[in-house]
Amino acid sequence: MTKIALIGTGPCGLSFLRSLHQAEKNGDSIPEVVAFEKQADWGGLWNYTWRTGSDQFGDPIPNSMYRYLWSNGPKECLEFADYSFDEHFQKPIPSFPPREVLQNYILGRAEKSDVKKYVKFNTTVSSVVDNGNGFDITYTNKIDNSVHKDSFDKLIVATGHFSVPYIPEYEGMNSFPGRIMHSHDFRDAEEFRNKNVVILGSSYSAEDVALQCYKYGAKTVTIGYRNNPMGFNWPEGMKEVHYMDKIDGNKAIFKDGTVQEMDALILCTGYLHHFPFLSEDLKLKTHNRLYPPMLYKGVVWQNNHNLFYLGMQDQFHTFNMFDAQAWYVRDIIMNKIKLPSDDEISNDINSWVSKEEALEDAYQMIDFQTDYCVDLCSAIDYPKIDFELIKKHFYDWEHDKEANILTYRDKSFSSPVTGTTGPSHHTTWLEAMDDSMATYLDTK
Ligand SMILES: Cc1cc2nc3c(=O)[nH]c(=O)nc-3n(C[C@H](O)[C@H](O)[C@H](O)COP(=O)(O)OP(=O)(O)OC[C@H]3O[C@@H](n4cnc5c(N)ncnc54)[C@H](O)[C@@H]3O)c2cc1C
Ligand SMILES: NC(=O)c1ccc[n+]([C@@H]2O[C@H](COP(=O)([O-])OP(=O)(O)OC[C@H]3O[C@@H](n4cnc5c(N)ncnc54)[C@H](OP(=O)(O)O)[C@@H]3O)[C@@H](O)[C@H]2O)c1
Repeated sequence: MTKIALIGTGPCGLSFLRSLHQAEKNGDSIPEVVAFEKQADWGGLWNYTWRTGSDQFGDPIPNSMYRYLWSNGPKECLEFADYSFDEHFQKPIPSFPPREVLQNYILGRAEKSDVKKYVKFNTTVSSVVDNGNGFDITYTNKIDNSVHKDSFDKLIVATGHFSVPYIPEYEGMNSFPGRIMHSHDFRDAEEFRNKNVVILGSSYSAEDVALQCYKYGAKTVTIGYRNNPMGFNWPEGMKEVHYMDKIDGNKAIFKDGTVQEMDALILCTGYLHHFPFLSEDLKLKTHNRLYPPMLYKGVVWQNNHNLFYLGMQDQFHTFNMFDAQAWYVRDIIMNKIKLPSDDEISNDINSWVSKEEALEDAYQMIDFQTDYCVDLCSAIDYPKIDFELIKKHFYDWEHDKEANILTYRDKSFSSPVTGTTGPSHHTTWLEAMDDSMATYLDTK
């Protein structure tokens, strides 16, 4: 029987386990799978921890989520086609849930799938080499520090790519008297109340960490972009300026001449695709982009068709795209999808990559990734989901953010699975300080 190693049980790994469960339910005989998860529980980044730095075993903490994080896109855009929000919560809920609510949804489906039995928790994969027929894998049980080796026919890498921070160096950092951190280590903004905060970056972390600082009472928030500003209508006390040149004492000096006193510097400078456990020939090397090269249909390693990656793209679409990828990989492994010739594979990759390289704005990027999801779904039996509606939701969401970055999370969207429109939340995002699941779900 084919033996699969799955590394990581974040949303992508869980999608793959779900895909096997669904195949088994449909009467297929499924391959053997062993899932390795270095954390004590599944859920990946959604498995929040107060910890930063290392865990109690000395391993780097993979989690980058913060205490008061809310979904930054409508939940209707990421809904599982085979497990709706209505089904999970037994009632309609608003469109932008806090972290704990989304985690509950993701794990709810996983727990109903009877797949935990496949997972080795507290187990880190430390080495993978191609043995000509498959892969030799070395892994460590962190609890008793025992090292094990095993061989597998297929390998699925689902280790995420928002865990290892990219941390640039600026002149003056060593002598800066305040706090310097990367968004990976940001857990909440309380410590920045009444402080002058400088944030570097112009993507989702910069936007949202800046908003967290504003919401929790920072005195000023100055965002330094490198290439393009986010350009939102920032409220009083927030501004966006061009690129930090250096630090002089407690002052940030920007290329556009701005000099800003700062108490804290938060680097929202993104993450590295980092796979220290893979031998060089198997390692995906890319920055954060919508179509990393070397991956047929975004998932099959071009040079070794027994190796698959899940979720390595930059992401507008998330959970249902991860499902589509997982179903697709499952069907290749179970010989339901036949791979074309090497030339066709190469042409297909090149065509997606060149389309991606021509994209000019966020709307085109949404179209591109939606087309990618539709393309995958045309080959699999993932339940039908209305990607045209999801695309429209993403467009509206972009417009909402442009109109008012403080209120976009107060909007409602309709489900592509059940058609239900999310009710308005009882408290606006800006005023909601208690984002516990109990308070959020109290929709009476
Ligand atoms: C701050 C932040 C906020 C986000 N907010 C949202 C949001 O609101 N909505 C949304 O849809 N998406 C959001 N995302 C995007 C996020 O990428 C996805 O939601 C999702 O977590 C990706 O799933 P994944 O399985 O690919 O990776 P991860 O969630 O990172 O899971 C990877 C898993 O692999 C395990 N692992 C890694 N290396 C090894 C190893 N060597 N051995 C064993 N196990 C290993 C890790 O412990 C982890 O459990 C956010 C990302 C970040 C960084
Ligand atoms: N739910 C939420 O609310 C939430 C919150 C935060 C993050 N997220 C998710 O987290 C993921 C990661 O987002 P991310 O923003 O951390 O990473 P990202 O999207 O990869 O963006 C990295 C950013 O770092 C900037 N950068 C890199 N080096 C820099 C430098 N030296 N100086 C200034 N800027 C620099 C890049 O600028 P250039 O563009 O100029 O290259 C880019 O803007 C996304 O999927 C996002 O959706 C979600």
